[in-house]
Amino acid sequence: MKKILAFVLILALAFTAIACAAPAAAPAEEATTEAATEPAAEAAPAVTTYKVGVCIYKFDDNFMTLYRQELESYLKSLETDTVKYDVTIMDGKGDMAEQTNQVDTFLAQGVDVLIVNLVQSSSAATITDKAKAAGIPVVYINREPSADDMKAWDKICYVGADARQSGTYQGEIIASLPNKGDQNGDGVVSYVMIMGDPENVDAQYRTEFSIKALTDAGIQVEELFKQRGDWAQEKGQELAANALAQFGDKIDVIFCNNDGMALGAYQAIVAAGRTVGTDIYLVGVDALPECVQMVKDGTMTGTVLNDHIGQSHTAVDAAVKYLAGETVETYLWVDYQKVS
Ligand code: GAL
Repeated sequence: MKKILAFVLILALAFTAIACAAPAAAPAEEATTEAATEPAAEAAPAVTTYKVGVCIYKFDDNFMTLYRQELESYLKSLETDTVKYDVTIMDGKGDMAEQTNQVDTFLAQGVDVLIVNLVQSSSAATITDKAKAAGIPVVYINREPSADDMKAWDKICYVGADARQSGTYQGEIIASLPNKGDQNGDGVVSYVMIMGDPENVDAQYRTEFSIKALTDAGIQVEELFKQRGDWAQEKGQELAANALAQFGDKIDVIFCNNDGMALGAYQAIVAAGRTVGTDIYLVGVDALPECVQMVKDGTMTGTVLNDHIGQSHTAVDAAVKYLAGETVETYLWVDYQKVS
């Protein structure tokens, strides 16, 4: 009897064991089958990410703000599934020592290409030497290094606009007015010149060539006032206010080397009770959107398009060529256009 009981017990245990084991085995078998029939996972495409270091002389600059925004968005628009650009843009805050440190940091971080808007054009040689030692090409923008500095290495280029052209266009805008800019009819165009940073060829050439266009057109000129406003609106306002207080109705034209300063000068003109287009003329350069609107409204006589879109795209295209190991011409010019 005991033997029969033991046999039944063993049988019962064996059934229980089989019953417990079976459900666990089934899913494992299914998983294996699934794995066997699934298509092999596709290999992800290899992505190359290039590091692009951008140095801007100063973020607080109307024109260079438009420029750097377009630079970044255009570079991003060139990305593909397999090519990405890791862009870092630094603010030089108008301090060359700070910008030099930023370049050092970029090089230490292993950027693949640099785009540099120098704080001081005269420091190009220092920056080129560092980049050359690291084998990293440089696209200089907006502030032109000297011709000698541009010969230092075949992996540097300059993207800019010929500032002589912008100055000439400013002068031509005034010379083509019915009274040729002589609002008070005394036979002489008496002008105020508000300059950018005089170290910058843009400031030098715009100052020189705007007046040359008048004298080339046979117009007699008289310089009443000339001071540096360093491209800044507040300084443009301050200097124009000083000039208006000093020379009053004698002033026919206020030439500003850029629109930022012209915006400031406009505030001073209004505060002095003068009316642009009636008893005074005002010209700038850049064609900032607000200034183009003012030209349409007649509150600014004219401006000159400094093509930040063309320049930023040209700079990025040059950088991309360097990344592809291609050669780039030393000078890449973008034209100005009159807005009057
Ligand atoms: C000029 C521009 C100015 C200022 C300057 C900075 O080309 O007209 O508004 O941005 O560059 O270097």
